[in-house]
Amino acid sequence: MTTIDLRARRAVRTSGASYKPGTPIEEVQRKLKLKSVIKLASNENALGPSPRAIAALRRATSSLHRYPDATCRALREQAAKHLRVAPDSLIFGNGSDELIVMALRAFVDPGEEVVVASPTFLIYELQAKVAGASVRVVPLRDYRYDLVAMKAAVTPSTKLVFIANPDNPTGTYVTKTELEEFLRGLPSQTIVFMDEAYYEFVEAKDYPQTLRYVADRSMIVTRSFSKAYGLAGLRVGYGIAQPSLIAAMDAVREPFNVNSLAQAAAAAALGDHAFLARTRRVNAQGRRMLTAALDELRLRYVPSVTNFLLIELGPRAALLAQALLRHGVIVREMSAWKLSGCIRVTIGTPAENRRFLTALKVCLRNGGGS
Ligand SMILES: Cc1ncc(COP(=O)(O)O)c(C=O)c1O
Repeated sequence: MTTIDLRARRAVRTSGASYKPGTPIEEVQRKLKLKSVIKLASNENALGPSPRAIAALRRATSSLHRYPDATCRALREQAAKHLRVAPDSLIFGNGSDELIVMALRAFVDPGEEVVVASPTFLIYELQAKVAGASVRVVPLRDYRYDLVAMKAAVTPSTKLVFIANPDNPTGTYVTKTELEEFLRGLPSQTIVFMDEAYYEFVEAKDYPQTLRYVADRSMIVTRSFSKAYGLAGLRVGYGIAQPSLIAAMDAVREPFNVNSLAQAAAAAALGDHAFLARTRRVNAQGRRMLTAALDELRLRYVPSVTNFLLIELGPRAALLAQALLRHGVIVREMSAWKLSGCIRVTIGTPAENRRFLTALKVCLRNGGGS
């Protein structure tokens, strides 16, 4: 058997299941013969893409016969200015997902340890297993990262610790104080991977501004254009770290990993401050409206700083998610996260939020039947 076969077998054997994305709108329309379907299942931007990004995309189409800039030069310069960091402390990925894979490839050899929380973003554990890492899983406490327990799980062979901040699927965050306590005395060979895919939504005063730590320690901070910037379909994310860590990740990067349309749109979206402000405002209003309605329905949910809510529905949760689908509302059923009593709902436009609540009330009244 070749090395390739062995790797493929190991990947399937060790990761068990592959990642199951949210159900696409078209699939639900076709299967359930529904005209109008809304998707509140993948934490995408309710307002669509940034208008500036769309204009930049149109302009970029005339160069589609060219390979993309392998260094993402224009996007890199724009992002470096925006973040006030050096251009060589940035790396771009085909979504921030790809940066997770690059970090594992660059820093973790088979048998070395990776520490993850549970439940959290599923890709960390799936991809760590594919990389042949030994994964130490630390349970959340009250739906929050337990950084004290995660630090206790770190050993001399721990290469990476993944922290989603804010976390998906809970929507909670670790505070500056908690993070600083975690970082104090952490072995220097352990790289802390701060996944900030929902960074732009957070308004909490005690949320850590991690770019302050990047220069002095082994830390990679990643952010995404898929959420607040509304570009999930194009797949762009970026990482910020010391140039030596960036160089190591760059060495395992595919040369043309970020396509030219994605680069153009992302650079334009970074400058679309009005769109970002509207996104934040609509999201905060929607979150207030939804949580007030859930309070009225006496349903428990996890307080969230993001654009989604984890709602406890008890044993009927999967049935209710199916029933909501028949009303044309796609939400996330949570058994893959071992949270089978919950659903996760992305905060939508005001009309989408109203439609979700109306459908939920009907389904609750019918006991999850329809
Ligand atoms: C915590 C977290 N990290 C990373 C990602 C991946 O985002 P991207 O679309 O940039 O790959 C997601 C997407 O849902 C996420 O929830």
